[in-house]
Amino acid sequence: MALLCQPSVDLDPAVIAFARAASPVPPPPAEPTNALADNPTAATLGHMLFFDPALSGRRDTSCATCHDPALAFTDGRAVAEAAGSGSFNTPTVLGAAHHRWLFWDGRADSLWSQALGPIENPIEMDGSRLDAVRHVAETPPLRSLYESIAGPMPDISDTVRFPSGARPGTSSWEAMHPADRQTIDTAFATLGKAIAAYERLLQPGESDFDRWVAAVNAGTRDDDILGEPAVRGLALFAGAAGCRQCHFGPTLSDLEFHDLSLPPADDATPHPGRGAGYPLLRASAFRADGPHSDAPESRKARRTAAIRIGTEHWGAFKTPSLRNVAATPPYMHAGNFETLTDVLTFYNTLEQQVRRHHHAEDVLRPLDFSPAQLADLEAFLSALTGDPPSTLLRSPPPETGIQNPETHE
Ligand code: HEC
Ligand code: HEC
Repeated sequence: MALLCQPSVDLDPAVIAFARAASPVPPPPAEPTNALADNPTAATLGHMLFFDPALSGRRDTSCATCHDPALAFTDGRAVAEAAGSGSFNTPTVLGAAHHRWLFWDGRADSLWSQALGPIENPIEMDGSRLDAVRHVAETPPLRSLYESIAGPMPDISDTVRFPSGARPGTSSWEAMHPADRQTIDTAFATLGKAIAAYERLLQPGESDFDRWVAAVNAGTRDDDILGEPAVRGLALFAGAAGCRQCHFGPTLSDLEFHDLSLPPADDATPHPGRGAGYPLLRASAFRADGPHSDAPESRKARRTAAIRIGTEHWGAFKTPSLRNVAATPPYMHAGNFETLTDVLTFYNTLEQQVRRHHHAEDVLRPLDFSPAQLADLEAFLSALTGDPPSTLLRSPPPETGIQNPETHE
């Protein structure tokens, strides 16, 4: 294979192998626990629900309020704010379908079960599963999409049997007949599965990094595609900087959990990370190995059943994907850093680390890189910004009459 352009930076074969393993982004992995995962009608319903503020208690907050398509499906804030103020940074939904565990603390094991959390979370949408299902039942376009994927909508018009605002933890929910609660849970799970079907279409788009790897694969490596600083940054990322230990593959994440010993958001007590997320996952009715899963015996479900949490998971957070990272500030679970420069300064000095307990992982070493090397790393991270999804996927479906959410100042 003849090289058309002379590569300008010498790259170790291991670096080239690292890059080729990270690109292109494949389609999301199969999702047996969601029978609707790749159903286009379900995705249409999910698309409508994603932009629908009527799922929230005050009917003013949709998923897209915090996962704003104009901000690469984030909110641009250090920590989320809606019905209340949170202590977590809002991750992007782009590429979320590739994650094995959802949320910073891994308390969901599927995209569909994840989607059910924010609807009822008092500091997010503060709605209820009963009202969400009733909204779909009472909104003709939503109801007809629902029925075409899940069969007849149960009759929940009796407001004594099905009291408004009912969600676990409320007395009205606890007072409901178990069979009625089951009816609502099944319909609610279907809404999550539809939202997940839409989210699976939100793939990270092709980036300069992918275009560069495609040229490498074609035997026509062209460093002009990335620019020399980003090529040098790639070499550092996959080499001396050690980033590849945790950030590798198409998502640039190991999809697992680590404790970087970062301080919590302002005034918050340190979050136990996966140490808290695991018990919540065990307690969830919407687990991959639970009653609402479409494949409770699948390998995926067995993995949920098999996880064991040790003290080393205390304070560990999910390694985020670095796809589109330049478009999704601020950074880290608590929104600790405003810019990529700040993130790299952290890895360079580790000065902000707070040691909370002696089980903390001890894998990071200060990089002690020069400003020029840090700039190269940042150029590489910036080359991971992909083309956005289609305008259609980024906009509320026209039949909902919902306007694009205001971009936060
Ligand atoms: C109030 C702002 C807010 C709203 C509304 C909201 N989210 Fe989120 N979302 C967040 C925050 C903050 C997190 C991280 C929370 C955590 O990890 O505990 C998150 C996490 C996620 C994740 C996990 C990503 C990952 O990499 O683990 C997905 C997917 C997601 N949200 C989708 C949705 C969907 C679907 C809805 C609507 C049903 C929604 N969100 C509503 C703020 C919001
Ligand atoms: C030991 C595993 C590990 C190593 C090594 C590592 N990271 Fe990370 N990275 C993580 C985890 C875990 C987080 C999230 C931590 C948190 O929020 O508490 C993270 C977060 C980030 C973020 C913020 C992304 C976001 O959306 O908030 C960036 C950027 C990043 N890492 C880049 C790098 C670079 C560059 C290197 C090499 C210098 C590196 N990482 C080395 C595990 C690692």
